[in-house]
Amino acid sequence: MTSYSLALIPGDGIGVDVTEAALRVAHAAGARFGFSLETTTFPWSCDHYLTHGMMMPEDGIAQLSGFDAIYLGAVGWPDSVPDSVSLHGLLLPIRKAFRQYANIRPHILLPGVEGPLKSQGFDILCIRENTEGEYSGAGGRVHQGTPDEVAVETSVFTRAGVERILRFGFEQARARRKKLTSVTKSNAQKYSMVFWDEVTRELAADYPDVEVTHTHIDAMAAKMVMAPESLDVIVASNLFGDILTDLGAAIQGGLGFAASANICPDRSFPSMFEPVHGSAPDIAGKNIANPIAAIWSAAMMLEHLGEAAAARAVLAAIETATAGGIGTRPGSHSTEAITTAILTALEA
Ligand code: IPM
Ligand code: MN
Repeated sequence: MTSYSLALIPGDGIGVDVTEAALRVAHAAGARFGFSLETTTFPWSCDHYLTHGMMMPEDGIAQLSGFDAIYLGAVGWPDSVPDSVSLHGLLLPIRKAFRQYANIRPHILLPGVEGPLKSQGFDILCIRENTEGEYSGAGGRVHQGTPDEVAVETSVFTRAGVERILRFGFEQARARRKKLTSVTKSNAQKYSMVFWDEVTRELAADYPDVEVTHTHIDAMAAKMVMAPESLDVIVASNLFGDILTDLGAAIQGGLGFAASANICPDRSFPSMFEPVHGSAPDIAGKNIANPIAAIWSAAMMLEHLGEAAAARAVLAAIETATAGGIGTRPGSHSTEAITTAILTALEA
């Protein structure tokens, strides 16, 4: 039987609740489709920070590097550790160190879920650049606390980085409805975003079968609300993709439905799978977090591991549950009830 090694980082808050749910479903999929997941749990979190002064050990990245995949629940407990510390100590370094430059986020309305829009029939795949751009980490502060204080944070766009994420987007579009929308703000940002547009035009020559549209981020925000059904694959920089995917989550009924995968496409390092939502401290441990985003993210992990049939079955089980009215509205069902309904559908 094929066995995959999985590093589990439940993290903080509801990350713990939904990781447990996602893993129950992933193990059940393994039992049905003939593979197993050997999990190793890492207690890296804000609690870990409070005890050890760091989110993960010095050699944390090295410890993760040999796994087939990483599953992460959520990171952050802002009452005790500032988000800028916790995220820069765990989630963001993993994305960068493991060259997980493609963050994939599907925005589809599940059956039975009533989104806030009139438009119900959309199927958008957002490809977010995940390692550079506005999240480069290049910058600094001087004259702190004085009237002369300066804060600089520089976006970094490399040809290699822009080209690879755009190629990834073109490939995804080619495998779907062959429409790629590149999102920039090149009317205002005349260096980085004009550069991004140029690279998009260069690469388009290699993908004559893909129809490319250039849209500015502000117009895209409106389009996702007014005409989401017109969109297929969207490719955007790190911060733009971050913002658009919260909007994507909103139009699919809420953050509890938004799945995501941080992919290292050449597979030289493990990829990481995590729901888009955060740690939601206010509802942590109460058995009310919606596990659907987390379970869907686990399905994306199975697909990446090569278990496409299992991934499809998990998504179908989610759809069966929501079509039956389970987990479709905030607070309608417990974490446990939603997980059980999905397990039942998966085993049927
Ligand atoms: C996300 C999150 C993170 C991001 C935060 C927690 C740093 O919002 O994955 O979308 O901005 O990438
Ligand atoms: Mn985000």
